[in-house]
Amino acid sequence: MSAAMAEAAGKTAADTVVSVSGLTLRFGGLVCLSDVELALRRGEILAVIGPNGAGKTSLFNSLTGVYVPQEGSITLTDPDGARHPLLGRKTHVVNRLGMARTFQNIRLFGALTALENVKIAAETRQKSGPLGIMFGLPHARRNERESDRRAHELLDFVGMADKLNELAASLSYGEQRRLEIARALATDPQVLLLDEPAAGTNPTEKLELAELIKHINRELGISVLLIEHDMRLVMSVADRVTVLNFGKVIASGTPSEVQRNRAVVEAYLGAEMAHEVLDGGDADGGAVEGGVPAARGEGE
Ligand SMILES: Nc1ncnc2c1ncn2[C@@H]1O[C@H](COP(=O)(O)OP(=O)(O)O)[C@@H](O)[C@H]1O
Ligand SMILES: [Mg+2]
Repeated sequence: MSAAMAEAAGKTAADTVVSVSGLTLRFGGLVCLSDVELALRRGEILAVIGPNGAGKTSLFNSLTGVYVPQEGSITLTDPDGARHPLLGRKTHVVNRLGMARTFQNIRLFGALTALENVKIAAETRQKSGPLGIMFGLPHARRNERESDRRAHELLDFVGMADKLNELAASLSYGEQRRLEIARALATDPQVLLLDEPAAGTNPTEKLELAELIKHINRELGISVLLIEHDMRLVMSVADRVTVLNFGKVIASGTPSEVQRNRAVVEAYLGAEMAHEVLDGGDADGGAVEGGVPAARGEGE
C-alpha cells in the first residue's frame, strides 16, 4: 500500500501498530525478503509461519534494526497516532520506541541469575547511568529499587517467582524461554516479537506458553508478532496468520482460512500431497498441522 493510500485509510492506519510495505532484503544475489506486506493490528496476535528458510527470522531482524532492507518501509505507530519510520534505525532505538523481541537461539546471560537478567533489561529503560549507580546517587538508588521491583513482578507474571536466584544457564529450556520473554517485557514494549518461543519445549510447556502469550496480549495489552512452527500453538493463540515462502507473503488470513489455503498447503507438503489433502481427504484438513512439524530447524 502506498503512503497516500495508507493515509486515506485513516482509521485503519491508526489501528495498525506495525506496518510493513514493499520490504525487500537481499544478501548479494540471494533475495531473502521480496516485496513483503504485513500489518500488525493494535492488540492482536499475528503469527508468521512458513517453511524453514522462508525469511521469518530475517523479517524480525529487519523489524528490529539488525538488518537494513534495501527497499520498502516499516512504520511503528504509537497509540496517540505518532508514527516512527523504523528502516535503518539502530536496534536500541527500535527497542526504545516500543519493540522488544526474543531470539530463535536463546540469548541470556547464563552466568547471571534470572532476576539479574530481567533487571538489566529494566534498567535500560531508566536514565541514571552506571556512574550514578556507582556513587550511589539517590535517584540511581531509587531506580535500582524500581527495576528490582519490576523484575520481581515480571518473573512472577511469567511463572518464575521461585527461580529468581537461579543462574540462567541452569534453568530448563522452557524456563529460559520464559525468562527471555520476561526480559523483553522489562523494556515496556507496545509490540512483542517472539521467534519460535516453543522450540525445544515439551507439550506441557507448550500449553503453558500458549497461556502466557494470551496473558501478555490481553492483560498487558501488548500486540504480538509470533513466529512459530507448532500449528496447534498457532491455531490456539493467533488472531491472524501471515505465511511466508521463499521470502514472499503467499497468504494472510484467519488461522482456519490459511490452513485451507492451497498455496500454503503446497508450500508445506508439495503439490501432490496438497491435492490429496485438499481435494481428496477430510475437508477440514488438519493438513498444515500434519505438515509443519517436519519443517523444523535451527539457525537464524
Ligand atoms: N546474514 C545473512 N547472510 C546471508 N544470508 C542470510 C543471512 N540471514 C539470513 N540469510 C538467508 O535468508 C534466508 C532466510 O533465512 P531465515 O530468515 O533465517 O529463515 P527462517 O527464519 O524462515 O527459517 C535463508 O536462505 C538464509 O540463509
Ligand atoms: Mg528462523
